Amino acid sequence: MTTLAFAQTSALQTVRTVDDLRAQVAAWRQKGETVALVPTMGALHDGHLALVRRARELASRVVASVFVNPTQFAPHEDFDRYPRDEAGDAAKLVSAGCNLLYAPTVREMYPEGFATSMAVGGPAEGLCGTFRPQMFGGVALVVTKLFLQALPDVAVFGEKDYQQLMVIRRFTRDLDIPVRVEGLPTVREADGLALSSRNAYLSADERARAPELNRALVEAATALSAGVDAGAILEAAKARITAAGFGTIDYVELRDAETLEPVRRVERPARLLAAAWMGKARLIDNVPVAVGPVPAE
Ligand code: PAJ
Repeated sequence: MTTLAFAQTSALQTVRTVDDLRAQVAAWRQKGETVALVPTMGALHDGHLALVRRARELASRVVASVFVNPTQFAPHEDFDRYPRDEAGDAAKLVSAGCNLLYAPTVREMYPEGFATSMAVGGPAEGLCGTFRPQMFGGVALVVTKLFLQALPDVAVFGEKDYQQLMVIRRFTRDLDIPVRVEGLPTVREADGLALSSRNAYLSADERARAPELNRALVEAATALSAGVDAGAILEAAKARITAAGFGTIDYVELRDAETLEPVRRVERPARLLAAAWMGKARLIDNVPVAVGPVPAE
């Protein structure tokens, strides 16, 4: 067992300190390599690996970070029980073509005396920003640190966390951080459920019901494309999500696809975003809403 775990992890070079990360990136830079960064919290699935594969297309070297970031969790949230499996993650990263795993400790990221925070507005307001008020400040802090530690040419994030992607784009531009931010469409199971590390919290019965969240959004997005008032359509989507066995619905909202400002009817590209509880899992999903009716198939 130990030997196998060693054999898997030894295939991927792993660094745990900012100094070691910078030394490796500097060595690559000297050889003229370009660098892509894929930040994650581990418990990797095919959605994360799609980001790594995209990163490989965008740069000659790929660094993935695995760090369950305490500053983006509130005290009552799932920081302690968040799934962790570094050996499994390393094996998956190798298979996707990752060149380096950066897995710092909490102490390395937030040393004794750490006293800095970030306040983010604009796209961070509303949606998950209302229900997890500490989250985007924590994400901004850790992603800024990762950007400045690795100084990659490009970093790749998933549209699965659409609001997070827009927040990252915003502060990267606002702070003149010289990193290109790339988004990748959500990777889904065959039944539409967005891949998520938190799907591990679902029972078999909950897992069977969970795809209704995506189906309700896709159905609503098609109706919204016609440019009608969103009110009744969003209510119908919520009713469908409730009927599927979800508990509390945190939100189902229509927003501008770029600014994330609230929208009542679709006149330019929009995004329909939702968060709802299925058992112990808070599931989020979002879909694009195009302008104009979708042609019948
Ligand atoms: P985590 O939830 O591990 O997600 C890491 C990256 O994988 C994010 O960019 C997320 O959007 C992307 N991702 C997750 N599920 C996906 C799916 N089904 N399809 C496509 N991409 C998917 O998001 C975080 O970690 C953290 O907040 C982080 C940015 C690492 C900062 O701590």
